[in-house]
Amino acid sequence: MIIAIDGPAGVGKSTVAKLLAARLGYLYLDTGALYRAIAWKALQSRTRPTDHEQVTTLLPTTSIHMQFHHGAMQVLVDGIDVTGELRAPEVTAAASVVSAIPAVREWLLPIQRQIGRKGSVVAEGRDIGTKVFPEAPFKFFLEADADVRVARRHRELVVAGRGGTVETTFRDLSDRDQRDRTRSVAPLVPAGDARLIDTSALSPDQVVEQMMAVVSIES
Ligand code: DC
Repeated sequence: MIIAIDGPAGVGKSTVAKLLAARLGYLYLDTGALYRAIAWKALQSRTRPTDHEQVTTLLPTTSIHMQFHHGAMQVLVDGIDVTGELRAPEVTAAASVVSAIPAVREWLLPIQRQIGRKGSVVAEGRDIGTKVFPEAPFKFFLEADADVRVARRHRELVVAGRGGTVETTFRDLSDRDQRDRTRSVAPLVPAGDARLIDTSALSPDQVVEQMMAVVSIES
């Protein structure tokens, strides 16, 4: 049983996906962490994330493992726990860049699908409903007004001790959105059968309630 949640940065995907997974007792799969792991590896090995060829040559010698403990996810790259480093601003920017490389997306597909086979999963990302789990019985696509998304992301960064200005947050979010929506492979678009939820005026709990209503009526 897979529940797919897609949408741009700052719509509250992670918060909602975690809450929903906890409510249902499902595994929470943050697929962005996998793109961040590749970005981390590229930066670590002094490979420019924009260099498709070089990033692609890193893949065969890279191992990525995700471990799940009581709802929390740990990411190991080549045996090193990099979980705490994946949300650094330079990794965030590089993740969006490497995610446009077709070979990276192909390489990560079986890893995501294998985790999906572990059982009941709430998977969150950009192409879960369109590409990774197109057969998922429940698909949600979250949207929110740009100013709301910027404010949410800025607050998150401040809480994490990584807050820049609202202007830099706006610029980073717009750049990332533009790249994620316009890349040639698996761009960020809602699946034809996804339910759209505008989270601008909703709390995470309200979004989860809407999802729970759909899941419990239809399952
Ligand atoms: O969800 P996130 O911010 O952790 O994702 C980081 C980047 O990874 C994002 O800019 C786009 C990319 N990504 C993707 O292309 N496909 C996914 N399923 C998840 C993330």
